Amino acid sequence: MSESKVPSVNLSPSDYVIIGGTGDLSLRKILPALFWRYLDGQITADYRIAAASRRDIAIDEFAAMLRPFCESAFADGTAGEDEWQGFLALVSIITLDVKGSEGGDKLAEFIAERADSGRPTIFYLAIAPSLFGDATRLLRDCGLVVPQARLVVEKPLGHDGESSRAINAELAEIFDESQIYRIDHYLGKETVQNLMALRFANVIFESQWNNNHFDHVQITVAETVGVDNRAGYYDAYGAIRDMVQNHLLQLVCLVAMEPPSYFNADQVRDEKLRVLRAIRPLSAEDISCGQYQEYMQELGNSSNTETFVAMKLAVDNWRWAGVPFYIRTGKKLARRASEIVITFKQRPHDIFQRNGGGDIDSPPNRLIIRLQPSEGLRLQLISKEPGPGGMRLFPSELNLSFGDTFETRLPDAYERLLMDTARGNQTLFMRRDEVFAAWDIIDPVLTLIAGKTPSLYRSGTMGPEDDLLVADGRAWIDPYDD
Ligand code: BG6
Repeated sequence: MSESKVPSVNLSPSDYVIIGGTGDLSLRKILPALFWRYLDGQITADYRIAAASRRDIAIDEFAAMLRPFCESAFADGTAGEDEWQGFLALVSIITLDVKGSEGGDKLAEFIAERADSGRPTIFYLAIAPSLFGDATRLLRDCGLVVPQARLVVEKPLGHDGESSRAINAELAEIFDESQIYRIDHYLGKETVQNLMALRFANVIFESQWNNNHFDHVQITVAETVGVDNRAGYYDAYGAIRDMVQNHLLQLVCLVAMEPPSYFNADQVRDEKLRVLRAIRPLSAEDISCGQYQEYMQELGNSSNTETFVAMKLAVDNWRWAGVPFYIRTGKKLARRASEIVITFKQRPHDIFQRNGGGDIDSPPNRLIIRLQPSEGLRLQLISKEPGPGGMRLFPSELNLSFGDTFETRLPDAYERLLMDTARGNQTLFMRRDEVFAAWDIIDPVLTLIAGKTPSLYRSGTMGPEDDLLVADGRAWIDPYDD
């Protein structure tokens, strides 16, 4: 077992039931995350994991399917055969068809074996949302929707406000909101949580965090991958639904929210909701869509789906009036990098200009929060160049790399989120009203772009030219080199 440098908080054991247990999400994300938590000692031998799916599959075959996705743990020596077998001993396979209700009795039996312990049961719906209704009804009919049951769901929770309300209404018929955990995996990223620590555990930033000091904010989530084998899903969704409605708007919320009184689920989510409600309805000039050149060829169809989008948002409240939030995300871009860049206002008066200090076009101070990869913080400052020759100024940087500072593996977002479901902590999950408020912003955007052809861009660039910032006399700041 690995010796984690980060103390794991022990929890009372839980049962995880992954419905869609042999599917892509389960194999790629959920089970490897549980395996890492096992390696860290947080998931103990008393936990149970059921992979429920229509496939009747033997544990050995299942283990062989899962193993490649857990390889990083073996590669760095954290895991060996003993750990692997120890983890597999926690896993049961249950054949379950949520539509035909077949297998419900076996699932009920599995839960009943430990029911008297009152332990939490976490039902993770790793299946298409069109099956959520069937799955939740099956759980209810099997008598499994008890107070200690929790339900985890993930996007796409609808493809506009109306369908999202319909899906959520279906869930609400059976589970109470306090039992529903809607994953936005960006909230489970270490650096995204660090943004809250940066803002609310330090006084120096918070006093600057407003329209007296900020010129503007840029948020970039750039990916190098294309749509690959997800073309069917992606073409019906596009970058706005796939990334902006959830991940990017959540990042805007974390930058713009007021400090909650306590770091608890309702207070944090109340403050994020206020931000979403303060975002001004966008107009067509605030949106720029692009599509990478090879997209339609890969798809085998013509399509207006955007694989890139940039937007200018205004947050209409006292703190942020006049501070634009520019956001962009896209596939097949020049690099994989997610960054929040805060550009401060220029100093009001330059005292160095008259004594030769004005020899650089000194940039404003910037705070760059790198979410991935090479997670860290950079604070760009102006300094004096050493030596004689007058007051020569040059840009310098305070650079904090989280990887170097903590010398520990940064856990995957799913690890944190899965343990929070066991803990019963909803702080990093989306509440229903947040999801609806985000759709209230996005629905009109989808109407504005409907039928419009996105600009084509070459793969390996940072997307199409757009003049969202140019019109404001600003420019996109490219992510820094790793
Ligand atoms: C998912 C999107 O939610 O996030 C994908 O559906 C995207 O299209 C992915 O690639 C990006 O996540 P990450 O963690 O790699 O930044």
